[in-house]
Amino acid sequence: MAGDGEIVKIGLLGRGTVGGAFADLVAERADAIATLTGKRPQVSGVLTSSTGDYDEILADADVIVELIGGLEPARDYVARALAAGKPVISANKALISTYGEQLFAASDDSGAPLLFEAAVAGVIPAIRVIEESLAGAHIDRVHGIVNGTTNYILTEMARNGLSYAEALGQAQALGYAEADPTADVGGGDAAAKMAILARLAFGVDVTLDQVTYEGIENITAADIAYAREFDLVLKLVGTAERINGGVSVRVFPAFLYPSHPLASVHGSFNAVTVESPSITEITMSGPGAGGIQTASAVLGDLVSILNDTPRVRGDGAPVEIVKDVESAFYLHLEVEDRPGVLAEIASALGDQDVSVRNFAQRTESAEGGSGQGTDEAARLVMVTHRTLESKFSAAVDQIAELSFVKAEPRVIRVIEEEFVD
Ligand SMILES: NC(=O)c1ccc[n+]([C@@H]2O[C@H](COP(=O)([O-])OP(=O)(O)OC[C@H]3O[C@@H](n4cnc5c(N)ncnc54)[C@H](OP(=O)(O)O)[C@@H]3O)[C@@H](O)[C@H]2O)c1
Repeated sequence: MAGDGEIVKIGLLGRGTVGGAFADLVAERADAIATLTGKRPQVSGVLTSSTGDYDEILADADVIVELIGGLEPARDYVARALAAGKPVISANKALISTYGEQLFAASDDSGAPLLFEAAVAGVIPAIRVIEESLAGAHIDRVHGIVNGTTNYILTEMARNGLSYAEALGQAQALGYAEADPTADVGGGDAAAKMAILARLAFGVDVTLDQVTYEGIENITAADIAYAREFDLVLKLVGTAERINGGVSVRVFPAFLYPSHPLASVHGSFNAVTVESPSITEITMSGPGAGGIQTASAVLGDLVSILNDTPRVRGDGAPVEIVKDVESAFYLHLEVEDRPGVLAEIASALGDQDVSVRNFAQRTESAEGGSGQGTDEAARLVMVTHRTLESKFSAAVDQIAELSFVKAEPRVIRVIEEEFVD
């Protein structure tokens, strides 16, 4: 029989997909939490766009749970709760990645914790692992598949040969993608999550506007099919890494070799890989979104607060953001099939010290427009060794100008697995 436990009153801001599931979960798990912590959570007030008064809810609550989303009024409500010394839990990646510094300072000033495990990778406890289990480790790099919608789309394109538009339509029909999918497919949602992970992993002040990101809107089924010849798998990957005293935080579609821990993360799942000399590499994976899953991560933060689990979150130090980063690249060229082509391409790559690791060529006959004959065309697909992005771009610009190149070159980054023996 669970003890009654001291009542802890929760002011719930937002009762939509996550807020509704969270309210149900609190009612369902109150006994178990009372047994665990000696404190019994109870939702004491609910604010939606049409009901509730924030001042009254704040005055009455012991803890504020922000599940509204967006920047305002969420920022204002969270800041006021922290200033009033009330612990806050939020699942709002836009808010934390944009106003993290300001809100952490408010949390430090009043001593009221601000927790946001659900903001980054759904139910995966990535923040708790980075802040607690790995608090003593020097983290060099974090890779993440932190957007379930795009992972679902890319998985469907690879498995069933769907076009991007078909896979997006399917994701929308199943409720994985919003009616306006821009934030997901454009990479902005993943960029916000990577800004938060970079800040926590490296202890530096990174904001969303410092993250370089690309989405998956221009990926074709052909890119995925051609790269399969090299055993590569396409994912939308977020990377935060230390480089020469600075950091780089980016989100981009990337090919992975099958041995990479993120290569086997399929469907709407998320995963986060953390690399540090003292641990080599760990990978966590699990559902990336969903009302009940996200609510469960919020509840985990609530239990931390009820247990008074301390969080050490140093100030974010200023840091140089490195933009020109080394990577391997996949390059797909459509060219006229005639002598000398390969030599000219090799020369353009060589001028920029770009060396090729794998190469494949396909020749195909296309009917001439007049129907009188055929044009021989060739597709050249290659993967380079690691090279600075600026050098590779310079080589591709030069190749694009060559008279025999028939279409815009297609370029996708390739991430190599460093820890395979
Ligand atoms: N859904 C997911 O799977 C998921 C996963 C991870 C993180 N998150 C994050 O969780 C948060 C909530 O997402 P959600 O999917 O639950 O959103 P949602 O279903 O749209 O619910 C939003 C709630 O906030 C209320 N609200 C909106 N504007 C408000 C305002 N100005 N003042 C007071 N209340 C307002 C809405 O009121 P009405 O009820 O009156 O409309 C609704 O109850 C977001 O930060 C989101 O990024 C969601």
